[in-house]
Amino acid sequence: TVVVRRRMRSTGKWTRAAEIVRELEEQCATPLGRLRQVADAMAVEMHAGLASDGGSKLKMLISYVDNLPTGNETGLFYALDLGGTNFRVLRVQLGGKDKRVIKQEAEEVSIPPHLMVGTSDDLFDFIAAELAKFVALEGDSFHLPVDRQRELGFTFSFPVKQSSIASGSLIKWTKGFKIDGTVGEDVVAELTKAMERQNLDMRVTALVNDTIGTLAGGRYYDNDVVAAVILGTGTNAAYVERAQAIPKWHGLLPKSGDMVINMEWGNFRSSHLPVTEYDQALDLESLNPGEQIFEKLISGMYLGDILRRILLKLAGEAALFGDTVPPKLKEQFILRTPVMSTMHHDTTPDLRVVGNKLKEIFDINNTSLKVRKLVVKLCDIITKRGARLAAAGIVGILKKQGRDTLRYGNKQRTVIAMDGGLFEHYTIFSKTLVRTIEELLGEEVASTVFIEHANDGSGIGAALLAASHSQYLGLEEP
Ligand code: GLC
Repeated sequence: TVVVRRRMRSTGKWTRAAEIVRELEEQCATPLGRLRQVADAMAVEMHAGLASDGGSKLKMLISYVDNLPTGNETGLFYALDLGGTNFRVLRVQLGGKDKRVIKQEAEEVSIPPHLMVGTSDDLFDFIAAELAKFVALEGDSFHLPVDRQRELGFTFSFPVKQSSIASGSLIKWTKGFKIDGTVGEDVVAELTKAMERQNLDMRVTALVNDTIGTLAGGRYYDNDVVAAVILGTGTNAAYVERAQAIPKWHGLLPKSGDMVINMEWGNFRSSHLPVTEYDQALDLESLNPGEQIFEKLISGMYLGDILRRILLKLAGEAALFGDTVPPKLKEQFILRTPVMSTMHHDTTPDLRVVGNKLKEIFDINNTSLKVRKLVVKLCDIITKRGARLAAAGIVGILKKQGRDTLRYGNKQRTVIAMDGGLFEHYTIFSKTLVRTIEELLGEEVASTVFIEHANDGSGIGAALLAASHSQYLGLEEP
């Protein structure tokens, strides 16, 4: 069928476009009052999730990490980080208090997309094979005492119900992963079997979420780190809770009195969240409809696709790109967040970069300056909403920890370790996030809160936790 479309008159076109944008702005608005409601709701849900399993959309998962790195960890340890579009392997030689990280080597491998939606064995075989290759390249400057097994910290960045520090079953896949047969399985057992198939003699001594790894890595360098936030493909947070404040914890009270909690805040939802028709459609057409609603408003996997959906609407209803809708605008995930970020940060007077990207990604030619400006404005609306919501989430955690006031005096530093490509590379996002935390806390309290970018803290953190949970702990070097 041929769709015949009456040519929209230019004035009519811009009136409709303005209307659509105005509506979007209204629906995406995040005034401080609303953000405070989100922060409060976050704190309330945290309580509920700690009270009982299934008590809240927030899973508040127990990490079995009750001691964070001290700096005394020594030896050779490996880490494997799976959870985004890439996975990383790392080896590190730890030298204890004074020497700290003596030497470290890492490699990053992108995951072939078909493996993200394939079978469990295929994924784990691929990972174990890459790990085996990496281990084979271990040089003489790394040192493992004779007769000892290599040990691994496994960062697995999905919701896992742990049964110990080194075991746990997958609750569900998130982000772009959808693999049959892994949900409910012990992911450490899956990895161990795959390592055996590679004849790789290695033992997982810590299974951690990336938020937990980042918290551990952050604490290694700064004693005041009490929470970690990931803003990357997905988003999530972890923080240090008092074990006594976790009603659903029936284990022994740890000596430290603390337990680190993986919130899985990506699954947070609340009537206070500003959700638009575009978000609803994105959710419905996603791999996990109804799930990870907070994540879908904030994280790198989704921001670009929200923008695409709005552009598609403008193309269809306001003929923004001419009389026909450019077909590529209909392709899900074709516009990735890094590209959106590049357009958003375009400083050329004629927004040349925006023009080039529209051409490159969507085959849209000859856009006017007015159109390009509109695209930048849309980037701004979507990104600022995401960053401000993430800020509200962080303030929710500070509330739960009693660190949103000067109750502890202004000498008390509160440090949040941050990681993830969105935070690292999307400057407008990170600046907005930091500014919004200040707005919410007020100047005085905000001056005690520090956001520290922990670059690949999660890898080092997992290795550190592998070290502090080593099977050889307490044994002298043979
Ligand atoms: C998703 C995962 C979560 C992870 C986060 C950041 O939300 O469910 O476990 O921490 O992405 O990678």
